[in-house]
Amino acid sequence: MSNIYIETYGCQMNFADSEIVASLLQKEGHSVVTDIEQADYVLINTCAIRDNAEQRIRKRLRELRALQGRHKQLRIGILGCMAERLQSQLMVEEENVSFVVGPDAYRRLPAILQQVRQQGTKASETELSTTETYADIEPVRLGSNGISAYISIMRGCQNYCAYCVVPYTRGRERSRDPETIVAEARSLFDQGYKEVTLLGQNVNSYRFSSNGREVDFPELMHRVAEISPLLRVRFATSHPKDLSDKLLEVMASHSNICKCIHLPVQSGSDRMLKLMNRHYDSAWYLDRIAAIRRYMPDCSITTDVIAGFCTETEEEHQMTLEMFRKVRYDYAYMFKFSMRPDTYAAKHLQDDIPEAEKTRRLEEIIALQGEIALENNRKEIGKTFEVLVEGESHRSKEQLFGRNSQNKVIVFDRGDAKPGQYIMVKVTDCTAATLKGVRVQ
Ligand code: SAH
Ligand code: SF4
Ligand code: F3S
Repeated sequence: MSNIYIETYGCQMNFADSEIVASLLQKEGHSVVTDIEQADYVLINTCAIRDNAEQRIRKRLRELRALQGRHKQLRIGILGCMAERLQSQLMVEEENVSFVVGPDAYRRLPAILQQVRQQGTKASETELSTTETYADIEPVRLGSNGISAYISIMRGCQNYCAYCVVPYTRGRERSRDPETIVAEARSLFDQGYKEVTLLGQNVNSYRFSSNGREVDFPELMHRVAEISPLLRVRFATSHPKDLSDKLLEVMASHSNICKCIHLPVQSGSDRMLKLMNRHYDSAWYLDRIAAIRRYMPDCSITTDVIAGFCTETEEEHQMTLEMFRKVRYDYAYMFKFSMRPDTYAAKHLQDDIPEAEKTRRLEEIIALQGEIALENNRKEIGKTFEVLVEGESHRSKEQLFGRNSQNKVIVFDRGDAKPGQYIMVKVTDCTAATLKGVRVQ
């Protein structure tokens, strides 16, 4: 039996997948190790969303050559979205890779390890599935704090946003049996976990039918939230086109469903949104923001945005800045457009915004968002929040940090508080990224 070292890049769904991979391999008698020097196999779970994500993996593969020089029996396997995108070609381009396995083929991993070891051949398994959800696999929680965990509730995406590679790397959208999701959440709560995050590329389109009855995302959220008021429930990601009032109602009526919605806007320009194939315009998006605020005035809102998509004009870029000023996001993931092979954009559009111009637009968005986040945080000073304590602050052993329902990080003096506890903290100060506070009764 072998020692497996798993390294994960990309989104939360990849992290959740690595926990499924660990479980599948442990079941076959392999061990997951945290020291790479002990490894017989290094598995790299990769991301393909932007070119720089792939370049990072290629750099890592070069670094690993030295380790392979010292450990001749070491084999490297590539999992995840880059494996799916490049398939066996990746083993031609990167000679030190022995196998590639796509996101729907992880059940084949034990057999592949055996093949690579015993026959000394290379292997590639990248078939996508329309049904695989790994519903029966209980993930091994890797690097977990024992407090919060991810639960994958669906896989794939078929929205085909013009810029996005995910539909090609993750395949068709499919939802996981709600019974298995609720059971996994309950089991985590019984083990002492206090927070679960339900994951999918577009959780609003979660839908599972069995025996003629359909469970949608609001109902699933309701069922998970009912497990215990002491179990916090989060979710990611919501597509604005499908964000329903029914979900907002369910969120508002459960205090343990966290008041935080990640609603990627991508652009403030209607022409860009149409070209991106997002299926909403700025008016629709702002209507959804108004609905969130109507149901939950204290809900935080975060987003993703792309600067410099094909043919974006200066005026359209200004519309994105205007959108940021209107919504006043608490946090944003901000990216420069990166052309991805196979996408609609790659086939039909020109990547015509010069790099320097993309950088300038991105920096303008980042600067504006920094100001907004700081102003938003200043408004929290004086308020008291329930905080789930997560661990020691990175800055000082004397301080702990946790998050409020809005997912904002709050740092406070340790006192006798312990990770995993819910405590009340009054905010006294802030930066753009963090709140500082004192514990109150
Ligand atoms: N399913 C989620 C997004 C997953 S990818 C959703 O639709 O909201 C995360 C983010 O990466 C996207 O929201 C988008 O902002 C960004 N992204 C995706 N493809 C990109 C590309 N080709 N270049 C730059 N950013 C991209
Ligand atoms: Fe990509 Fe769009 Fe699917 Fe999100 S919804 S994963 S951006 S195709
Ligand atoms: Fe990256 Fe794949 Fe996630 S491309 S963002 S790891 S779905």
